[in-house]
Amino acid sequence: MTVAPTSAAFRELRLRQFRNFAELDLRLPPAGVAIIGDNGAGKTNLLEALYYLEIFRSFRGAPDERLVRFGEDGFFARAAVDGASGASEVAVGFERRGRRKRVSVNGAPPERLGDALGSVGAVVFSPSDVALVAGSPAERRRFLDIVLSLNRPGYLPALQRYRHALRNRNALLRTGASPALLLAWESGLLESGGRVMAMRAEWALLAGAGFSRRYEAISQGQSARLAYAPSVPQAGELVDAAQAAELLRGALARVAVRERDRGVTLVGPHRDDLALLVHRAGEDRDLRDYGSGGQQRTAAIALRMVEAETIRQARGREPVVLLDDVFAELDPGRSRRILELLEEEEPGQAILTAPKQSDLEVRRGSLPHWRIEDGKVLA
Ligand SMILES: Nc1ncnc2c1ncn2[C@@H]1O[C@H](COP(=O)(O)OP(=O)(O)OP(=O)(O)O)[C@@H](O)[C@H]1O
Ligand SMILES: [Mg+2]
Repeated sequence: MTVAPTSAAFRELRLRQFRNFAELDLRLPPAGVAIIGDNGAGKTNLLEALYYLEIFRSFRGAPDERLVRFGEDGFFARAAVDGASGASEVAVGFERRGRRKRVSVNGAPPERLGDALGSVGAVVFSPSDVALVAGSPAERRRFLDIVLSLNRPGYLPALQRYRHALRNRNALLRTGASPALLLAWESGLLESGGRVMAMRAEWALLAGAGFSRRYEAISQGQSARLAYAPSVPQAGELVDAAQAAELLRGALARVAVRERDRGVTLVGPHRDDLALLVHRAGEDRDLRDYGSGGQQRTAAIALRMVEAETIRQARGREPVVLLDDVFAELDPGRSRRILELLEEEEPGQAILTAPKQSDLEVRRGSLPHWRIEDGKVLA
């Protein structure tokens, strides 16, 4: 009798001409592995490849061309997985010429790329996550869009419809089109925009408590909170798509004159933000403006943990956690508490990297340690 696995996992990985890996074939232990290697050895590249199989793009925001090993025509990546949505194999090939990307799940191309997103169920923790907190609202919208696209059915199609309607509406505004013409695009924009806002609002309400709890646990008592900050007033309190669409209609009407002058759509989900606030001296203050480096990093980690929880709840499986040298630059107390929290809450497969053995000794002591050197993994 076989017991259904309750954790998502990468079982095998094959890479060809991906970044600095000419040929890599790995078998990944079910509990995970700690990978140690010098700066530039390929640690982040390896995690980038694994997560590429989750979202089919680089978590570092690199264009596909850049992932092709220097001087080669394309790359290939494939993993045998215990996927959170029944996937057992995910593969992708990219050719520089014509920029062709071919994705397959369980040996067959998905009908739409969107259907293949999130086949594994994984979260990356990376030092660059600090940009989630310190960066522009676009960073946080991107975070929301990825989390919701992977975990809320209907979100990605609504977002795509919204973007399409927005592009057309902006093109009309630029050419000074009449209000009657603008109206032609409005119903699609309102319907899709309302859905996007409602799903963002619902997620933020659900995720808020988990974010605060983790932030407090890591920072020992300091408090922080997360809230949806929609560009449409009051859309944060709602979880109903039709009401959100109505609010968007009203907000658009209020800015109609300004929009005609500026030639661009001024309110809507494309202007949203996610507020991350610390409570200091009796007031909520934006972590983006007032957070220290360590506080911003802590908030970013708490946000990733909330993402992991979203995956767990949506798919009923423990996600894989990919930890890229995340303890760099944190004080020892915080590092230890993050580790304890991760050990407690993320019992699934953990693949972590660090430049030094000593960085990993306290962490997941039981995991096998591998070395990585110049694109070769010595298991
Ligand atoms: N397309 C590519 N083809 C070949 N090599 C590449 C490509 N892109 C990046 N590299 C190389 O990969 C290496 C960087 O790898 P990576 O970012 O994974 O390092 P790392 O082990 O995470 O280092 P650090 O500890 O500094 O974060 C660099 O040596 C870089 O030149
Ligand atoms: Mg790195």
